[in-house]
Amino acid sequence: MWRFVQITDPHLGSQTDGLWNNRVICSMMPDVISCLRRDLAELHPDFILATGDIASQHSRDAVFAARDLMDSLGYPYYPMGGNHDFTTEESRTWFTEAFWAHLPKGDTVYSFNHKNLHFCVLDPWWRWSDGSLCPFIPDPKTGIGWAVPPHQIEWLESDLAEHRFLPTVVATHYPAVQIPKRMQREPMMNAGSLDNGDLLSEVLERHKQVKAIFSGHLHMNFIVTRNGLTHIVTGSLPEYPVEYREVHVHEDRLELFTRGLGDKSFAARSLIEGKEWTAGEPRDRSTVIPLS
Ligand SMILES: [Fe+2]
Ligand SMILES: [Fe+2]
Repeated sequence: MWRFVQITDPHLGSQTDGLWNNRVICSMMPDVISCLRRDLAELHPDFILATGDIASQHSRDAVFAARDLMDSLGYPYYPMGGNHDFTTEESRTWFTEAFWAHLPKGDTVYSFNHKNLHFCVLDPWWRWSDGSLCPFIPDPKTGIGWAVPPHQIEWLESDLAEHRFLPTVVATHYPAVQIPKRMQREPMMNAGSLDNGDLLSEVLERHKQVKAIFSGHLHMNFIVTRNGLTHIVTGSLPEYPVEYREVHVHEDRLELFTRGLGDKSFAARSLIEGKEWTAGEPRDRSTVIPLS
């Protein structure tokens, strides 16, 4: 058995706190990362999957500060960008420069093998108001959604065909599925899912070796399984429940667990009474995914 962990939406390099469904306390992240470093030392994951919104503020310094905090965890990690990382052409450049050493071939769309698993990482683009897709937004008001562009779907199809004999995990910042009805509340903040999530799911379901897709963005925990594909959506690290996913990889299955930090005070500071539901139900917090 070996392990990897998923962290998502750490929103690093910012002193600006905010409010989503619970408090998003970016200013506590250096302490959260220190605590996570101590916690991970007991787990010894082979690597970390960091599914986007790694940096929170639009500046080169913020992206490099985020990179330094990620590096301080002391484990190999695979980064991907989210809407906070990839807003402009220059922010994409900062991201690629900062995380160059962690991006296979220096690209934000990539795949890699680790032991008995294959991983594919996607980089969805912004949908503009005229329906076209672009890797950045010219004006924050015109970016109204996200989708996996056709050339990435083509790349994915050929990569999956090439690695069809290896159980595969996909990762992307934006979920391919909507928030399930059982999780919905009134009022509820919903950052949105991929416009072409159904298309992406169909492609992945057709390639039977694809077992799971990891994402973030919605700042809540849920897990749904459809047609043999398990969608794992994970909460944001500076927001309640301040958790990450731990995955045990066996020859024949993945076992997924949800872990809080050793220091529970971070989660307590973020929680707004009545919003505990973002942690998910028991079925959103652990699962077993067969690999055969
Ligand atoms: Fe986020
Ligand atoms: Fe996001």
